[in-house]
Amino acid sequence: MAEGDKGDIRTDDKVWYENFVENYLPKEQDRIGPGSAPKPEALIHVSIGTDENFEKMVDFYVKFFNCTVTNYRDKRAEGKDGGRACFLSFDDFDHRFALLERRGGKRATGRAGIAHAAFRYRSLKDLVALFRQAKAWGIPLAHSINHGQSTSFYYHDPDGNEIETYIDNFDTPQECTHFKHWFQYRPGLDYDMSAGAFNAENMCKLVDEGYDEKFLRDRDNVIKLKAEGKL
Ligand SMILES: [Fe+2]
Repeated sequence: MAEGDKGDIRTDDKVWYENFVENYLPKEQDRIGPGSAPKPEALIHVSIGTDENFEKMVDFYVKFFNCTVTNYRDKRAEGKDGGRACFLSFDDFDHRFALLERRGGKRATGRAGIAHAAFRYRSLKDLVALFRQAKAWGIPLAHSINHGQSTSFYYHDPDGNEIETYIDNFDTPQECTHFKHWFQYRPGLDYDMSAGAFNAENMCKLVDEGYDEKFLRDRDNVIKLKAEGKL
């Protein structure tokens, strides 16, 4: 069959979805059966098992995310098996992080396991302020990139778990999703993710110079500023 008969994957969502089913799902007999689940309301907290780094991990999450401690316990003090646990929050929720001491626990090796947890901030100014504060604390940036729908700065916690801090590049989630769906990675569009990577120090300078945040969130502008040697 000629390719043309199938419709254009760049503009035809039916073709695009069929490609997903064919190449990204198990064969039909190996898939979870019919029926649908209720949708969760939101992703609320991250729970991390850690071993000999427990105290460093607590210090990191308290400082990096400006958290308060909402609770903690030590199972050993209660004569039980296990270790310490600490619950932290950066807002009204009872906890946003649970740090669980699991002595002898193995950290994920390589890049398998949950790759990162992502946290949205209010402004590029906040991301830049966090980048500078983290640097002053000796916490290096892993990388920074404009994905199109988000501007992201990545870090690692003391155990090597990756953290993404980001802002939405559009004013509404709908616009972010529209970009993600139609422009990022769509076969045939040759989207180059790495083209959006930028130098964080230069981004700080541009923010200091008073560049409009909306302008700096725009991926095309980021690529242009890089070409001009400003980013
Ligand atoms: Fe992410």
